[in-house]
Amino acid sequence: MAPNRPAVGLLYNPATPDLVAHAPELVEYLAVMPDRLWFDFGPQAVGRRFHRTLGAIEELRRTLRGRMLAGHGLGLSLPSAIPLDESFVEAVAAISTDLGGFLWYSEHLSVFLTPRGSVPNAQAGLGLPIAYDEETYGIVRDKLERLQSALGCQLLLENGSFFTPVPDVDMTEPEFLNRLHAEGRCETLLDMHNLYVGWRNGGPRPSDYIEELDPDAVVEIHLGGGDDFAGFYMDSHSGLTPSEVWEYAHQYAPGFKKLRAITFEFQETYYERIGVDALLSELARMHELAACCAIEASSVHAG
Ligand SMILES: [Fe+2]
Repeated sequence: MAPNRPAVGLLYNPATPDLVAHAPELVEYLAVMPDRLWFDFGPQAVGRRFHRTLGAIEELRRTLRGRMLAGHGLGLSLPSAIPLDESFVEAVAAISTDLGGFLWYSEHLSVFLTPRGSVPNAQAGLGLPIAYDEETYGIVRDKLERLQSALGCQLLLENGSFFTPVPDVDMTEPEFLNRLHAEGRCETLLDMHNLYVGWRNGGPRPSDYIEELDPDAVVEIHLGGGDDFAGFYMDSHSGLTPSEVWEYAHQYAPGFKKLRAITFEFQETYYERIGVDALLSELARMHELAACCAIEASSVHAG
């Protein structure tokens, strides 16, 4: 990786190996979702719960060669008021070890599992906003502590993409994330497109949100695109990053001195519709953004 600037990469999906083969030099980093590398038969499974998709893991290993790797999870639903799924955590730790160790692991500051509504594999679920209060803070803090001891790497939490404003909160989402950072619990994965989704659906202006956030908390940013559906703007990862998002990415990312990666997310089902050429142009734009972001040397090597 080039020194003193964030790496440019992709959230790994089954189309990623083909895209990377078109321009290997443009992709320096991969974020992989452990949830997508196994079949989860659930806590009640008779016999082994997690069955790895070995072919997918081998393909990931081939694509990964020489690239940075981090883990990105959806299945732990950390803010949910249910106990941490310990066997899931152990499975994530095991796959991290087998892949050479995640540089960091990110999860979402959203609820994917609800009481009586949990399913074994929740990766297709819709993230619901949390109550930003002391009770939720305590739940998240304690689960992060356990996750930290199991994984032994830096932890990040990603801001949600919401379809309605969240009223009457004790803390704003940036305040919640700032506190986690200040208390050394975890850092922030700032999804720039999620901010756009929230704003398009009546939430805060992205610039107001970012200005409230401690810039030193931001370790990774996500870019991506979505589309309109039934009167809402969706975080569908169906297209390129909107121009408004690029504007504030350029305005604010150079101020994130701990930024280690800029990651583009797309859904593999839209791979052909978006097109390889457009995706390669997007990666080139991400390199232009990364070149504007000088980061502290200690951030490059932090484990
Ligand atoms: Fe994201």
